[in-house]
Amino acid sequence: MNIRSCLIHAGLGRKVRLLHVSDTHLSLADLRDDARKHELAVRRNGRFGGLQEKYLEEQSAYAREKGELLIHSGDLIDFVSHANLDKARAFLDSTDTFFIAGNHEFSQYHGEACEDTAYKINSYFQIRERLGRDLFFASREYCGINIVGIDDSYYRFEDWQTERLAIEAEKGLPILLVIHNPLYEESLFRHSMDELGQTDAGLVGCGERQLMRFNEYRAFQQRPDAATMRFIDHVYREKSVFAIISGHLHYPYASMLPCGKMQYVAGAGFEGDITEYTIE
Ligand SMILES: [Fe+2]
Repeated sequence: MNIRSCLIHAGLGRKVRLLHVSDTHLSLADLRDDARKHELAVRRNGRFGGLQEKYLEEQSAYAREKGELLIHSGDLIDFVSHANLDKARAFLDSTDTFFIAGNHEFSQYHGEACEDTAYKINSYFQIRERLGRDLFFASREYCGINIVGIDDSYYRFEDWQTERLAIEAEKGLPILLVIHNPLYEESLFRHSMDELGQTDAGLVGCGERQLMRFNEYRAFQQRPDAATMRFIDHVYREKSVFAIISGHLHYPYASMLPCGKMQYVAGAGFEGDITEYTIE
């Protein structure tokens, strides 16, 4: 396990500690799952190193030992299987967690289809029931902070989510925004594309100048619609939101958005990364 420390300035005048894990990518299958899921489990465990369960147990034990809330920002499972959902539920029930979904929570078979709302809804009811959590929006007051989780796992926000965030702000508490896919920010984009040599950036809110560097499908997938840009503009202007934490990219990064708020990207949970935030 790899513990990273991070200090967030929120003007609280006291210290609040929180833990953050993202992108565990559990890749399990058992006798209830079909042959295709078993093949997928073998292939994806190869991709993620096969230690996802071990690291999740270590991260979970660490949170229990510290008595701190553990935020998991999605891709807890890599694909929908009985074995993955049982393991994910056991984790959520055994540890004090705040969870939001990532794109993989809705993935039946990796890379099989265009991930749009219809594909997401196809898995939604099963995942919602088996994990026992809301998946598109969640909030929780913790030590005087309002933790608000919003699903952006398919690179879009909807207007109702903007409205709900505005309603959360009426509570008058500082808001820590939790999303799966990070928001577009220039240095993060360049780090991904130019330094790491990725073929797409995996960020929400890219403009055409950025999207033209991706292949046609990735540009289509990650092109923000008007509601998405309205949400981002709202986050920029909403004074209650003091920081944004996210995952999805599998490498840690911290940078300042143009509005002056900090955005933190968690490292890969499947490699044992856990971030310990001190918010003050
Ligand atoms: Fe993801």
